[in-house]
Amino acid sequence: MTPIIAASLLSADFAALGRDIADVERGGAELLHVDVMDGHFVPNLSMGPPVVSAIRRVAHVPLDVHLMLDNPDGFIRAFVDAGASCITVHVEVLPHLHRTLQFIRSCGIKAGVALNPSTPVGALEEVAGDVDQVLVMSVNPGFGGQTFIPRSESKIRAVRALLDAAGNRAPVAVDGGVDRGNALRVVEAGASILVAGNAIFAGGAAERATRELCDLVKAGVAGS
Ligand code: DX5
Ligand code: ZN
Repeated sequence: MTPIIAASLLSADFAALGRDIADVERGGAELLHVDVMDGHFVPNLSMGPPVVSAIRRVAHVPLDVHLMLDNPDGFIRAFVDAGASCITVHVEVLPHLHRTLQFIRSCGIKAGVALNPSTPVGALEEVAGDVDQVLVMSVNPGFGGQTFIPRSESKIRAVRALLDAAGNRAPVAVDGGVDRGNALRVVEAGASILVAGNAIFAGGAAERATRELCDLVKAGVAGS
């Protein structure tokens, strides 16, 4: 799968989300990554279904909603109704992960699973055939602008191998500290969705930064 860029709106200007979304879409972002935080599972708060609905009204690309919540089951329906195309839940909070994934799929959207940096890949073993995306966290979730954890590269490889062994071509996504310095390495490791927030928005030129990241990963694949 040709790698794509998912722009993480956590680092966007919340007072100008429409403008920032238009910028990253012009720059080539093929997904918008929406981080939802509850102040319990992660030590931060972000946005909820009304903001996702507002994003859906102005966006042209699919919304990939990353639920960093202690109780994601109670909110899945609301985010489906708000316009999510994929909902990703954390394995760490779900004793009935299989049921949750089935429920997300029964709503007609894609189901993703996220792994924190300290969570072993083996936590996915029994659901490897039942996921539409695996999100490898390459920082401890909660904040944008953190530094990529180098060990994530081998974890991406291991997740890709686990999915392949299950006969599942679902993409591996990587989230946290992705930038132009490590993008080709994570693609080489097997990531095909690169979530980027700080690398896109921090410099105040989101369209150009998105385009540079897109061009880099597509050229890297063409040249490999
Ligand atoms: C962290 C979030 C990430 C974050 C990525 O909890 O899940 O999506 O916004 O942002 P950067 O690219 O700044 O690390
Ligand atoms: Zn995220």
